[in-house]
Amino acid sequence: MSIELPRGWLLIWITFAIFTLNAHNSEGRTHFHKKRNSHGPYIGSPVPQPPAYPTPSPPDSGDLGDPSSDGHIFDVRSYGATGDGSTDDTKAFMSAWKAACAVESAILLVPSDYIFMITSTIFSGPCKPGLVFKVDGVLMPPDGPNSWPDSDSKKQWLVFYRLNGMTLGGSGVVEGNGEKWWDLPCKPHRGPHGSTLHGPCDSPALIRFFMSSNLVVRDLRVQNSPQFHVKFDGCSHIFIENVSINSPALSPNTDGIHIENSKSIFISNCFISNGDDCISIGPGCSAVDIENVTCGPSHGISIGSLGVHNSQACVSNVTVRNAVIRNSDNGVRIKTWQGGMGSVTGITFDTVLMENVRNCIIIDQYYCLSKACLNQTSAVFVSDVSYMNVKGTYDVRSPPIHFACSDTIPCANITMSEVELLPAQGEMVDDPFCWNAYGALQTLTIPPITCLQDGSPQSLSERSAYDC
Ligand SMILES: *[C@@H]1O[C@H](CO)[C@@H](O)[C@H](O)[C@H]1NC(C)=O
Ligand SMILES: *[C@@H]1O[C@H](CO)[C@@H](O)[C@H](O)[C@H]1NC(C)=O
Ligand SMILES: *[C@@H]1O[C@H](CO)[C@@H](O)[C@H](O)[C@H]1NC(C)=O
Ligand SMILES: *[C@@H]1O[C@H](CO)[C@@H](O)[C@H](O)[C@H]1NC(C)=O
Ligand SMILES: *[C@@H]1O[C@H](CO)[C@@H](O)[C@H](O)[C@H]1NC(C)=O
Repeated sequence: MSIELPRGWLLIWITFAIFTLNAHNSEGRTHFHKKRNSHGPYIGSPVPQPPAYPTPSPPDSGDLGDPSSDGHIFDVRSYGATGDGSTDDTKAFMSAWKAACAVESAILLVPSDYIFMITSTIFSGPCKPGLVFKVDGVLMPPDGPNSWPDSDSKKQWLVFYRLNGMTLGGSGVVEGNGEKWWDLPCKPHRGPHGSTLHGPCDSPALIRFFMSSNLVVRDLRVQNSPQFHVKFDGCSHIFIENVSINSPALSPNTDGIHIENSKSIFISNCFISNGDDCISIGPGCSAVDIENVTCGPSHGISIGSLGVHNSQACVSNVTVRNAVIRNSDNGVRIKTWQGGMGSVTGITFDTVLMENVRNCIIIDQYYCLSKACLNQTSAVFVSDVSYMNVKGTYDVRSPPIHFACSDTIPCANITMSEVELLPAQGEMVDDPFCWNAYGALQTLTIPPITCLQDGSPQSLSERSAYDC
């Protein structure tokens, strides 16, 4: 069922849409030597400015260092790297890493004006404090699966392991050379005649931080990853700022920033356009703050998927503030599989501008890749989710608000205020969809939401199933 909006509203919003939906940031399959255009503003004018809030400061190790004034520079070329774009410079990087790791406040320098090719490498710690891995040139993996050494893991490329207090940044670029991986016939619709072939399909995450803490990733460009661009697993106290991530809209599984089993994450002022989730938050994450991030084209900011194969998943205290999401398949999403356990709680989306986004606001507790998933009684419990000041336009192919909660474990305490979503084209406004969703509106919304149920659900027995 649909309703019609008053025309005045529509004109205002269409005008808004025309002026803000200008050329988006997609750069397609850019080459690493191209200079990026300057970014658009962090946020368009129609969204009110958020209240002032304190800005967390990075750990001391956030300084990228000035090469001219510091004696602790370990230039990979001094360790034998050629930087000609084709020689395998892995050994030189390992030697430079070993030397830099042993010295306090060292800078491992990947100098500008050179292109370094290295194979899958684990840079492990512990190292002396204050280590900076500074990419001023281009750093890239071998070009595609056929050039990948058989003995190397196809799941990851650069791995930073067991580090405390390291910074990654620089004026250069980490180039993923992902194209041949995206085109493997096992990738969705890349097989003969648009088919998807079965078989192993591992593709490497470009940069992975594993079991590390007090990390800073800042002022860096990362692009064209074969799979996830930057991934954190088992990490805490992460500060990510001014990182731009780009890959084509049709590059499969190229999540921008993925975090799982990690705590205390602050992501700010990042620009991400890619072919999958802009930022994805997996199980075991808490205290995640995302601020001033611009996404699109992408699949939006996603919590999940959670609870796959009846697993327990716990995500709490995630805040997304002052985000812009453009031309994306989803806006802000929570997705869980049937049959999971655990909970997602304490989630705030505050001041999000949507431009031509499908599924602007979505909770999907029936997430399923095969379309053959059975309904199960257990589920990851979703509660205390707030949407404030979420405005803009939606792609009319999907309703702008969709709460599909579990049959047995309803979503509880969804609050909404100042949600105003209008169709990017046309005049018809799609009704929101709710299934088993409890919550309250603090202000009227556009489109109007009448399907949230009052109070709290009765059926929350067996607490232990969703304790975290
Ligand atoms: C953001 O990072 C880029 C390098 O990717 C750098 O050139 C630019 O100065 C940084 N911006 C700020 C505000 O530090
Ligand atoms: C986010 O953007 C706002 C407005 O542009 C700015 O005032 C604020 O300092 C930014 N926050 C961070 C963490 O950079
Ligand atoms: C989430 O935030 C609440 C309220 O600030 C706090 O009590 C709780 O300990 C936090 N949870 C985690 C897992 O950090
Ligand atoms: C699962 O439950 C949902 C909600 O009741 C229903 O729409 C869907 O058809 C069910 N799916 C299966 C496979 O039974
Ligand atoms: C509902 O969730 C909000 C945060 O989204 C929280 O502040 C509030 O305390 C919750 N209400 C209840 C009754 O738990």
